[in-house]
Amino acid sequence: MIEVNNLSKRYGNIHAVDDISFKVDDGEIFGLLGPNGAGKTTTIGMLTTEIRPTEGKALVSGLDVTKNPLGVKMKIGVVPQHRSLDKKLSGRENISIMARAYGVQNRREKIDDVLRMVGLHERADDNIKKYSGGMLQRLLIARALIHEPDIIFLDEPTMGLDPHARRAIWQKIIELNKQGKTMLLTTHYMEEADALCDRVAIMSEGKIVGLDSPTNLKKKGPAENVIKVGLDDVYPELIEKLKQIKGVKEIKTIEGARTMELHIYAEKGEELSPIVMDKIKTTGISIRSLDIRKPTLEDVFISLTGEKLE
Ligand SMILES: Nc1ncnc2c1ncn2[C@@H]1O[C@H](COP(=O)(O)OP(=O)(O)OP(=O)(O)O)[C@@H](O)[C@H]1O
Ligand SMILES: [Mg+2]
Repeated sequence: MIEVNNLSKRYGNIHAVDDISFKVDDGEIFGLLGPNGAGKTTTIGMLTTEIRPTEGKALVSGLDVTKNPLGVKMKIGVVPQHRSLDKKLSGRENISIMARAYGVQNRREKIDDVLRMVGLHERADDNIKKYSGGMLQRLLIARALIHEPDIIFLDEPTMGLDPHARRAIWQKIIELNKQGKTMLLTTHYMEEADALCDRVAIMSEGKIVGLDSPTNLKKKGPAENVIKVGLDDVYPELIEKLKQIKGVKEIKTIEGARTMELHIYAEKGEELSPIVMDKIKTTGISIRSLDIRKPTLEDVFISLTGEKLE
């Protein structure tokens, strides 16, 4: 449904998107996961024909995004990151504008259908100033569905929502996917990528640094376990010492709000952690926290880029 080949976007010497390639299959939920500035919105912009690529090629539903932007637009629905709604209008009126723009037949019924689909039919005639963040996000999804597109792009669909509203959006995404829609979404929430996506492309500084199913990404991840140690301070000598422990594969230092965190990627973390603790204690540095876990997508991300997602 989507085929991206060596796509790039440069703004002067900023490589917003830097030579990325991937394919999204029919019926898939595909995620672009990455921190602020990774190039997610720029990628969506190019695939939805809003941004002209500097180099490379992208086909959406078989159509070239630069040669046939109108054709592409008819096939896709877009839920943008920055809410582009008219604040003077009701929910229904906001959708109606889009329905007219697309020349949707049986407008009245179709608008009712999409409003019902996202659970907004009872509030449809309220001015959207009275909507919560979750309601606005559901309205954007309804609006993206009005012309019955095959492919839906969602840019950070749950950013800033509370856990309850987030789950409501997740359910809609899953429901739409079950109805056969192909979905490409971006997120910087690793739980979201993990919960929703069939496959995830991990983006960092415009590049794709990993691409697979969440399960495989974690399996192929940095190690069997991650030992996370919160410390007041970290010295290079300490890291060198810890690296010499048999079974330790890699160590990343992450700056937390109050403490430093050592992420020690290791096989058999349970067995290794007492040895790690002993080594640290001999340096006199106090340990604030200790946690041994299977790697999450965030750990995979950190091991690939050395950065935190959020
Ligand atoms: N119009 C523009 N002009 C110049 N630089 C831009 C422009 N749009 C984006 N960029 C730069 O391109 C990079 C990627 O931005 P983009 O918005 O695609 O990131 P993102 O992954 O969507 O981030 P976020 O999670 O914050 O939404 C950033 O460094 C950004 O500053
Ligand atoms: Mg963005």
